[in-house]
Amino acid sequence: MTSTPLRVGLLGAGTVGREVARALLARGAELTAADGSPLELAGIAVRDVERARAAGLPGDLLTDAPAHLVASADTDVIVELMGGDEPARTLIAAALDAGKGVVTANKHVLAHHGEELEAVARRAGAALRFEASVGGGIPVLGPLATELAGNRISAVRGIVNGTTNYILTAMTDAGRDYGDVLAEAQAAGYAEADPSGDVEGHDAVNKVVILARLAFGVWLAPADVTTIGTDGPGAGSPGITGVGSADIAAAAAAGLVVKLIAEARRDDEAIVAAVLPTAVPAESAFGRTAGVLNRIEIEADPVGTVAFSGPGAGGPATSSAVLGDLIAIARGLGSTWAGLPPARGAR
Ligand SMILES: NC(=O)c1ccc[n+]([C@@H]2O[C@H](COP(=O)([O-])OP(=O)(O)OC[C@H]3O[C@@H](n4cnc5c(N)ncnc54)[C@H](OP(=O)(O)O)[C@@H]3O)[C@@H](O)[C@H]2O)c1
Repeated sequence: MTSTPLRVGLLGAGTVGREVARALLARGAELTAADGSPLELAGIAVRDVERARAAGLPGDLLTDAPAHLVASADTDVIVELMGGDEPARTLIAAALDAGKGVVTANKHVLAHHGEELEAVARRAGAALRFEASVGGGIPVLGPLATELAGNRISAVRGIVNGTTNYILTAMTDAGRDYGDVLAEAQAAGYAEADPSGDVEGHDAVNKVVILARLAFGVWLAPADVTTIGTDGPGAGSPGITGVGSADIAAAAAAGLVVKLIAEARRDDEAIVAAVLPTAVPAESAFGRTAGVLNRIEIEADPVGTVAFSGPGAGGPATSSAVLGDLIAIARGLGSTWAGLPPARGAR
């Protein structure tokens, strides 16, 4: 038994990061690995140190220099919760290159640079874990890579974006217009000031790219995932931006509801993926997935269909997946892809 702590460098203390910081500060000693090592918060990088201090984070741990935290001899593992492309991509690669494990919730970076980061992690022999990047608090990537690894997967599909599901649910329940509901969702904090990443389907595209990596062993290019339908609700416009009250009413008349469904599936030996507004039976499990909940179904042989549902976003739920990944690294369980072969191109 050793009690050497695993020292965590946290990059970002926003919605998710501050929940992770809170848990590590309050329960770090409890969150022990199999060998008894406690997790210890060694530093927190933010842009605005004064604001973070005023929000209650310990001043002695705060820095505005994330690259220093990554390079520091005082951190063993890096948790990236800043979001966005750069500097997240460079910081993750640098940490892996230095042999440090990395936990991230950053679906954008993984979907756009996953192949490169997987190659860096494999070359350096460092763990890269990203359970929180799809489905927030729902464990789905781990089961795909481990308990379901003996299956041939034919399709992965899901409602993976809470903002669009909230908007579509409100349009359905209250018979209201897309524009009205979007404005209300922005006021309530369910949609961002620039909602395009959600409503045009890009966030769901990123998540389906990550799901496809675990299900099919390939990093798809986000640009190859269809977001504009040729028929069906909202056809001709990206994501849910073209879905009108007439689409919702027509679906309701047939006992259907419109949902933004992200899907990746085998088509002969190719993997095809799309994120499209889709009319599904109102009484089906997808039809009943309302508001900000997520649901992901996996079709596989021999298991059949298995489903995962739960809170797909929010600081506390998402921190659950991040903390689980940290404990997995502390236990030496390796990357999210575990023992799966390298993705095509990531050797
Ligand atoms: N929110 C969710 O429910 C959720 C769910 C699943 C996955 N995720 C993913 O988790 C990640 C974090 O999301 P979030 O909602 O927690 O974001 P957020 O609230 O915007 O917080 C981002 C944090 O990163 C810091 N930061 C950003 N750029 C930085 C830079 N260049 N240098 C130093 N610090 C920087 C910010 O510092 P300042 O505050 O000082 O600017 C802030 O503390 C994203 O990749 C997101 O996609 C989020």
